[in-house]
Amino acid sequence: MQPTPSQFVGELNRGFRRSRTIVTANSLGVFDALSERPLSTTALASTIGCDRTGTKMLVRALIAMNLLIESTDGELSLSSLSRDLLSRSSPNYIGHMLRFHDVLYEGWSHLEHVLRSGRRWHSLRNLLDEDDEFTQEYIAGMMPLAQHTAPRLAKLMMRWNPSSMLDIGCGPGAYSLAMIERVPGLKLTLFDLPTTLKTTERFVRRGGTRHDITLRAGDYLSDDLGEGYDLALLSHVTHDESAESLRKLFVRTRNALREGGRICIHGWLLTDDDSSEEFESLFSLQLMTYTDGRLYSREEYERLLHECGYRDIEYRKLENDTSFPTHAIWAVRS
Ligand SMILES: C[S@@+](CC[C@H](N)C(=O)[O-])C[C@H]1O[C@@H](n2cnc3c(N)ncnc32)[C@H](O)[C@@H]1O
Repeated sequence: MQPTPSQFVGELNRGFRRSRTIVTANSLGVFDALSERPLSTTALASTIGCDRTGTKMLVRALIAMNLLIESTDGELSLSSLSRDLLSRSSPNYIGHMLRFHDVLYEGWSHLEHVLRSGRRWHSLRNLLDEDDEFTQEYIAGMMPLAQHTAPRLAKLMMRWNPSSMLDIGCGPGAYSLAMIERVPGLKLTLFDLPTTLKTTERFVRRGGTRHDITLRAGDYLSDDLGEGYDLALLSHVTHDESAESLRKLFVRTRNALREGGRICIHGWLLTDDDSSEEFESLFSLQLMTYTDGRLYSREEYERLLHECGYRDIEYRKLENDTSFPTHAIWAVRS
């Protein structure tokens, strides 16, 4: 439903303020401190190292947003919402992702420069290469995003019964781990930058070591990906690359597949007809602040795949429990 002008203005101001308040509270460790035990405002201010009056205002805002609860004797604790999303022991924890928002925010505040110059503000690649702490947060933040989608994608890909699979830009490896649980004997190669693989290894170990998993470090645009794979997955990777680098990546992936092997591209898509979808358009703008990429349309992928030596292209939309469905495109190496 179309908002009224005053609802629109209200939402504009509220969205920005809410987002900054929650991201800052997360960075300050408010939710970590209160996950351990209830605290008074004074004790919380001293635990997170903040001014008491400022902490009081922050706490009021978090109570108003249903993220904290205050008991009658003034003790603060997490609400059920923040216990689910912002307590580190919860499987739905999004704190890693919110710390990435701090980095994104800087890029967003330079959007005007990005649009005028046509050049990104940050370089994701530099951050991944040079900032171990950032890399850990960024990669771990992908796990909750994959939680619901990974089993769905694995269910679709298992019908080919691959005996080997290459996960390019695997991140925490969620999509591959969902696949290896379903395909007995699958030999899995997880490929990513050396800094990222340190975090990947943690997630893989958590899943036990009973599977045949190789971690392979390198740059997917220049280093050896291996060869003879039945299936190669590129999940939420292609949108980080320019069209020119994508072409290179699709050709390199093709060379790593056996004849008849399949590439699978998974992620968000722009619509082909330029109709505006808010989530996709805003995400694409965001990508332009820290990568050379953007979202691409199904038509753009299909054209590129044809040009790079693939045939029999198939497409599926993957609904999930958010209103931002992802999409998968498969093609066979000619
Ligand atoms: C958005 S994440 C996607 C992770 C995972 N595939 C998923 O869907 O959850 C992109 C991944 O690509 C990796 N990456 C980025 N540039 C790379 C490069 N040049 N070579 C290898 N990996 C790269 C990053 O380290 C990160 O793990």
